[in-house]
Amino acid sequence: MAESQTKYSEPDYVQKQDKSQCPFWRATIAERTPPETHELLETYSGIPHSEHDDHIHRTRDRLWEIRQYPCTGGGGWLKAQLCLSAVYPEVMARAKAGETVVDIGTFIGHDLRRLVVDGAPSDHLWGIDIANHFDVGFDFFRDRERWQGKFIEADFLTVETNPTLKPLRANTDIVFIASVLHQWDWVGQVRGATALTHFTKPGSLIAGLQMGKPVAGAVVMQGLKVPLYIQNPESFAKLWEEVGASTGTRWETQAWPHPWEWIGIDSAEMAWMGPGVQLLEFAVRRVA
Ligand SMILES: C[S@@+](CC[C@H](N)C(=O)[O-])C[C@H]1O[C@@H](n2cnc3c(N)ncnc32)[C@H](O)[C@@H]1O
Repeated sequence: MAESQTKYSEPDYVQKQDKSQCPFWRATIAERTPPETHELLETYSGIPHSEHDDHIHRTRDRLWEIRQYPCTGGGGWLKAQLCLSAVYPEVMARAKAGETVVDIGTFIGHDLRRLVVDGAPSDHLWGIDIANHFDVGFDFFRDRERWQGKFIEADFLTVETNPTLKPLRANTDIVFIASVLHQWDWVGQVRGATALTHFTKPGSLIAGLQMGKPVAGAVVMQGLKVPLYIQNPESFAKLWEEVGASTGTRWETQAWPHPWEWIGIDSAEMAWMGPGVQLLEFAVRRVA
């Protein structure tokens, strides 16, 4: 196999962004909070609407101290994404039936909170993140005492050997992974997807999204300065064929391109990523 030029577990550009030079830092983000998040903060978290703007900006400042992702600086975490997925009705039904859901790169656990607000019990929900954003998440959602699920600070690439991930090994029904795999080049994404297979068993579903492009290929983005591979539906299916062949597993892959507006972001704001970069939603089903 070719060498990856992105051998890291997490990219180092997330630890050195200077706000004043950063293409994805926005001075204010509260104005882009979708109505359903205001409603969640009011009804689930018990925070009056008049306090939301301050609460959101104080939270963002704490998150920026942890890591400086585009979604941190731009407030991408204000909108849950799994609930937009074509497979969300299936995910909800399976979660309500007590199946295990793991959100990899969970950040503050915003997608898991949406599942709970939509009726899933929290005790089969797991969030994994290489950096602990979950304590800020508990303060943001004000549910530390009520939350029955688990958050684990771990690198998901260590799934085969890390004792904290053992309960999830070959035992996870639904994996959600959003805006994580795209942080690597092709070989790095093969490694990431291979690690995902170790969470699964036949019947498992992996859903998520990441950057996409009509013509797949390697890019180096302004501000990030690392070689990334941007997928389209065809290349993403090829990735899973390659991963299936090397792991002795079999996968059915579906993928759908979307404009940034699909997650409430103006495409013009993402122009710094380069021409044609948009979103790719995916659902990958383990059939053997
Ligand atoms: C761009 S953010 C996406 C957050 C969230 N999934 C979303 O879509 O809004 C990527 C998240 O993945 C986490 N992450 C990056 N590499 C990881 C790894 N190897 N293992 C676990 N988490 C990782 C980061 O700390 C960060 O919280």
